[in-house]
Amino acid sequence: MITLKAPAKINLGLSILDSRPDGYHNIRSLFCPISLADTLRLSPTANKGLIRLECSGMRSPEGPENIAFRAAALFLEATGADMGVDISLHKAIPSPGGLGGGSSDAAAVLLAMAFLTGEWAGLDELALQLGSDVPFFLEDGPALVEGRGEILTPAAVPGFHAVLLDSGEAVATPWAYRLLDLEPRSSALTNTGVSCDVSGLITAKWHEGKPYPTNLRNDFLPFLSSRLPGIGKAAEALSGLTDNWGLSGSGPVLYALFRTARETETAAKVLGESFTRVYTAESLLTLGRRQMVKTQGFGPCIWGFESSRPSQSSVHRERI
Ligand code: C5P
Repeated sequence: MITLKAPAKINLGLSILDSRPDGYHNIRSLFCPISLADTLRLSPTANKGLIRLECSGMRSPEGPENIAFRAAALFLEATGADMGVDISLHKAIPSPGGLGGGSSDAAAVLLAMAFLTGEWAGLDELALQLGSDVPFFLEDGPALVEGRGEILTPAAVPGFHAVLLDSGEAVATPWAYRLLDLEPRSSALTNTGVSCDVSGLITAKWHEGKPYPTNLRNDFLPFLSSRLPGIGKAAEALSGLTDNWGLSGSGPVLYALFRTARETETAAKVLGESFTRVYTAESLLTLGRRQMVKTQGFGPCIWGFESSRPSQSSVHRERI
């Protein structure tokens, strides 16, 4: 059995550049993995093509509607691997959240299946077939993310602690993109270089000792906060605490950044008086997860979680 964590991400700024002929949009965003994570356990079985998925924690679908299930099915179909798999998924990442929980689960399944079978070729294509954010989670270090989500440039980001605030409102990503398309172009799609200088976040504003950036603009925020009062209320609450806050993906989760766990706990306490869904997390800055899994398996401490090195002689690997 393999046990692995599937971390969430937050978007440190998100710019929607333009719509594409394939129906998607080109984006520009700085993605950073955080320690809030789902946990997956995968056991290979001899029942070729049979996938079983069991879920616990936050509510999530148990069948083929679950992207973790679809990732396993796609991998088995693409590789023709002579096996089945039992998956147990413990959900801790709110969904929908804009935190990439489902995408991260899918990437974790792909990595685990590749490790079990030794079939590493074509993983990026499978990831992109599953969803635009899935390729990011195969590597899973801070990265500038462009194109549909598949153009990844590793980025140096200093560590942070974060408080996450979930308004609980249901935001479907396609709906959020459609809203943007309906707006006059001048208000969102052409207003990228100035309104959300994501490169600026990477190069200029993050040096040690300097304050965290305050221009964590997300092009979705104005449209969503005017339609979903919970997001507007959460944004107001966070901006009362710090300037370093933003919306993750297409929401509804917002975050605020702090330098220390203590500041984060204090903020969480204050927010907890008015909101029921408040989480704390910290940045995960390790680069190159895929290469590590490929060469070292799931033993080493890859994401900042406690782990023990597995026995190299065993086919089944356990990561605790
Ligand atoms: O790729 P994924 O399945 O996560 O995307 C869900 C929907 O979000 C797409 O069908 C599309 O409407 C929208 N989307 C987009 N541009 C992106 C990512 C997602 O338009 N870069």
